[in-house]
Amino acid sequence: MMFSRIAGTGSFVPGEPVSNQDLVARGVDTSDEWVSERTGIRCRHLVSDGTSTSQMAAEAARRALDAAGLKAADIDLVIVATTTPDMVFPSTACLVQNALGIPAGAAAFDLQAVCSGFVYALTVADKFIRSGSHRRVLVIGAETLSRILDWSDRTTCVLFGDGAGAVVLVADETPGILAAAMHADGTQNEILSVSAKLSSGGVLGCPFIRMDGQAVFKYAVRVLSEVAHEVLEQAALPLAQLDWLIPHQANIRIMQAVAKKLGVPSDQVIVTVDRHGNTSAASVPLALDVAVRDGRIKAGQTVLLEGVGGGFTWGAALLRY
Ligand code: UT7
Repeated sequence: MMFSRIAGTGSFVPGEPVSNQDLVARGVDTSDEWVSERTGIRCRHLVSDGTSTSQMAAEAARRALDAAGLKAADIDLVIVATTTPDMVFPSTACLVQNALGIPAGAAAFDLQAVCSGFVYALTVADKFIRSGSHRRVLVIGAETLSRILDWSDRTTCVLFGDGAGAVVLVADETPGILAAAMHADGTQNEILSVSAKLSSGGVLGCPFIRMDGQAVFKYAVRVLSEVAHEVLEQAALPLAQLDWLIPHQANIRIMQAVAKKLGVPSDQVIVTVDRHGNTSAASVPLALDVAVRDGRIKAGQTVLLEGVGGGFTWGAALLRY
């Protein structure tokens, strides 16, 4: 029986942190007090012109490969979870393959599940490895969300940031990913969306994030709690044996509400939303890499990753690191 485990993590954020006060100085009608109290966000990183999702994805992936002690040539599948691909096609994953020099013949594709994208991609990669079709998979979440922010809409523009996180998932006889689940509810497609489409040489619809914040908030707390129980039950792991919870980094109040519902102490919740904002598909792997590199997450510990976002989509992956 073949399983998958994470062999290395990496991440990348562009430029210097941009504080809430910096946004006020740039003309956003908000305050540090409102943003930090309502969301826990103090800073985010924003790409300067020219930096692309694929460049950040490739840098995060290089760091994950280094951490795993593997080379680009060892990779046989690249999955990039993103809502902000460099272009309509080719996929960001093919651009990453080219940037890293992963030999022709490997498979590469993008996965679109918005803020649940990384958890979905990790779940898919786990299934590829368990099936025996692939052995070493780069799973990346990367976003340039600042390209789809309306800077005159203070209800959304203060929330999001840019960045990338990556893991190398490898085949192993010992299970790393213990359980995983993915879900969607398309009836909720309008509460969080970018409705634009390319058509006949123009952009039709709104090219910016539009969100019903309170509807998203309530839905997120409910499904993140439910899916946590689902994967813990799947793995027959009692909650008391969970070492770390890494929820999607959207809002500290959502994370606190989920931790409280589950009964996970706050010092076991990895929080990076204060420094990264909501980086959508990049948020979970960014937080994972931060906590691995600062020594909090240690080999052998159990970690529950959770994603939730547009679609509506949600999912979780329970792993032994
Ligand atoms: O990946 C998933 C993505 N999204 C999320 O996870 C978001 C989930 N939702 C949330 O995090 C929260 O709903 C928000 C942070 C977006 C909003 O917090 P809220 O407590 O639900 O605030 P609200 O929408 O009820 O707005 C309260 C007030 C309003 O003013 P009035 O009508 O009470 O006078 C807003 O106009 O806050 C005002 N407001 C702001 N004020 C200063 C909204 N945005 C801002 C802002 N700065 N940036």
